[in-house]
Amino acid sequence: MSVLNIKDVSKIFPGGTRAVDTFSLDVADGELVCLLGPSGSGKSTLLRMVGGFETPTSGQMTIDGDDITHVPPERRPTGMVFQSHALWTHMNVFKNLAFGLKLRKVAPAEIKRRVEAVLELVGLGGYGTRAVTQLSGGQQQRVALARSLVLEPKILLLDEPFASLDQHLRERLREEVRDIQQRLKITTLFVTHGQDEALSMADRIVVMRDGKTEQIDRPDIVYREPRTPFVAGFIGTMNLIEGTVANGVFSKAGYSTPVPVADGPATQAIRPEALELTLATDNAQGKVHRVTDFGTHGLVDLELLDSTRIKAMVSHPGLFQPGQGVALAPKAIAAYRDDILIHRGALTPEIAARRETIDA
Ligand SMILES: Nc1ncnc2c1ncn2[C@@H]1O[C@H](COP(=O)(O)OP(=O)(O)O)[C@@H](O)[C@H]1O
Ligand SMILES: [Mg+2]
Repeated sequence: MSVLNIKDVSKIFPGGTRAVDTFSLDVADGELVCLLGPSGSGKSTLLRMVGGFETPTSGQMTIDGDDITHVPPERRPTGMVFQSHALWTHMNVFKNLAFGLKLRKVAPAEIKRRVEAVLELVGLGGYGTRAVTQLSGGQQQRVALARSLVLEPKILLLDEPFASLDQHLRERLREEVRDIQQRLKITTLFVTHGQDEALSMADRIVVMRDGKTEQIDRPDIVYREPRTPFVAGFIGTMNLIEGTVANGVFSKAGYSTPVPVADGPATQAIRPEALELTLATDNAQGKVHRVTDFGTHGLVDLELLDSTRIKAMVSHPGLFQPGQGVALAPKAIAAYRDDILIHRGALTPEIAARRETIDA
């Protein structure tokens, strides 16, 4: 049982950069929470404070109720894996893993047993005598993970651990890490700037912006119900259309759709998969610019009458040609004003049901 509580933590660096700003988060036992945000949003600083490598300017952190805010890193029950794994290249794999256990005065036979078990766990059984320099990038990153796990931390901290690997390896490793994390039921905080990584691994996602939380939710909710235009634009592909609402109708160039909010400027958000297109001549609201066939689906780039570019996903890309006029039928929209969600329309029953389980 390991629970991490972060309460009103801030970090202001000398020089005045407020990297983390009154940030709070509770990570439940066995949960994997992803910190997701653009570069400079404070993800690494937050993680480093949990690991003890930075001191908070204010705020408090506890693990299982024990205050760790000022405990040095080597005495915290945390294990951290960095983007650059920093393995000791003059030691073989076994010695890299055994080092921390020796410092803790674990008996040699027990060290051997634990190191071999962890190597097995990360898919490197039998690699103990290998030199670290003889391993591939992916294998080295597995050793780095194993080196943290062998110390049996209560909280695992991962800072973009796959950033230096190629796409295929990254996808495979994130599945492996998720499997291991679930098997060990280890409470985990995972930093990434990759939305795919967060969507595929996390129990919950914290979207960070300027050291603050923009949204905390389950991945499906973050994707389908982004609370702000920033989240909407950051996760997945989203059409963000700036327009005006008058008498309950949102319009932009020749495009209009009912949005039941007060008159005024608004940003409408529509996912490409929620925008249905039909060929149109007289009542065209847009014009096809480019069609891309991805095999499983197609993506139509189109222009509204004022040249605003938006995207729609279609199941039969062959039906559309550049230059053709199209009519637009959005299936689900959200509208924002002053950075705040003011309307969410056409919820599917499936999403509405999920919402209820979360609100309960
Ligand atoms: N040691 C430091 N000294 C001064 N500023 C720092 C330091 N580390 C990070 N920062 C600043 O804090 C902000 C957040 O950085 P960081 O936590 O690394 O963001 P992220 O991991 O989300 O990319 C950035 O503006 C960065 O320049
Ligand atoms: Mg970082």
